[in-house]
Order: sequence, then C-alpha cells, then structure tokens
Amino acid sequence: MAAVAGAVFVALQFVPVDTSNPPATVDIEAPADVKEILQRSCYDCHSNETRWPWYFRIAPFSWLAAHDVEEGREHLNFSEWDQLSTEDQVEAMEEAWEEGDDFRVVATGPRGVRAIR
Ligand code: HEC
Repeated sequence: MAAVAGAVFVALQFVPVDTSNPPATVDIEAPADVKEILQRSCYDCHSNETRWPWYFRIAPFSWLAAHDVEEGREHLNFSEWDQLSTEDQVEAMEEAWEEGDDFRVVATGPRGVRAIR
C-alpha cells in the first residue's frame, strides 16, 4: 500500500505545473517600507514576482499554489498596476491597509494610485 502511494506521489511530480514569473511591467509607486509590506504580504499571489518556496514545487501543493497565484494575478496584479481602474487600485490599497500600516494613497499621474507616508 505504501509502495503504491509512493509510486502515485512520484508520478504526480511529472504533471507539469506552471510556476513561472512573467516579466513585471509597471509596479505601484510606494515608499520602500510600504512596498516591502506589499511584497511580503501580497506579492506572492498578486504580482509577477512570486517567490515559489520549495514546497510549492511539490505536487499536489504546487497545483494548489499555482491555482492561487493564477487567480490572485487575475483579480489584482501589482506588477501591472497601470492596467487597473482607479476603483480597483483603491480597493487593493484598502485591502492592504488591513495589514495595519499608516500610509495614505493619492490618485495621480499616469500610473494611477500611489502610496505615500
Ligand atoms: C495566498 C494568496 C494570496 C495572498 C497572499 C493575497 N491574496 Fe488577495 N486574492 C487572492 C485570490 C486567489 C483572490 C481572488 C479570489 C477571491 O476573491 O477570494 C484575491 C482577491 C483579492 C482582491 C479582490 C480583487 C477583485 O477584483 O475581486 C483584493 C483587493 C486583494 N486580493 C488584495 C490583496 C492584498 C492587498 C494582499 C496583501 C495584503 C493580498 N490580497 C494577499 C489570493 C491572495
């Protein structure tokens, strides 16, 4: 039984899963420390700069992770910030505020909403 499970586990590893990072285009403008929070808390699912830890490379976790990232990027991608509507940008920053940081956002410029102290 264990041998069968082991064989299945090994076989799973050969199912291809896309854990690539497309190139980042336009990033949100924010102070370094705000950006660090976003990078730490959000970028793994909401940017093209996903850090893929080793356990994300092991099926079936890799499938779940890849699915999460795909979904996350689809809804909100900080790496393609300029392609979001102002509404979506504000919504994203409201979500980020829940991480409890004291930055403000201002809507200006061709790159849209940016975070300031
Ligand atoms: C583990 C992956 C993951 C992390 C980390 C993550 N998200 Fe998400 N997020 C998702 C997924 C998947 C969705 C889409 C499905 C849903 O709405 O639940 C989503 C949806 C959203 C939406 C809604 C977008 C829309 O158009 O509906 C916002 C805004 C958002 N996330 C902001 C954030 C912010 C800000 C952070 C960091 C503080 C963050 N998320 C961290 C996976 C993640």
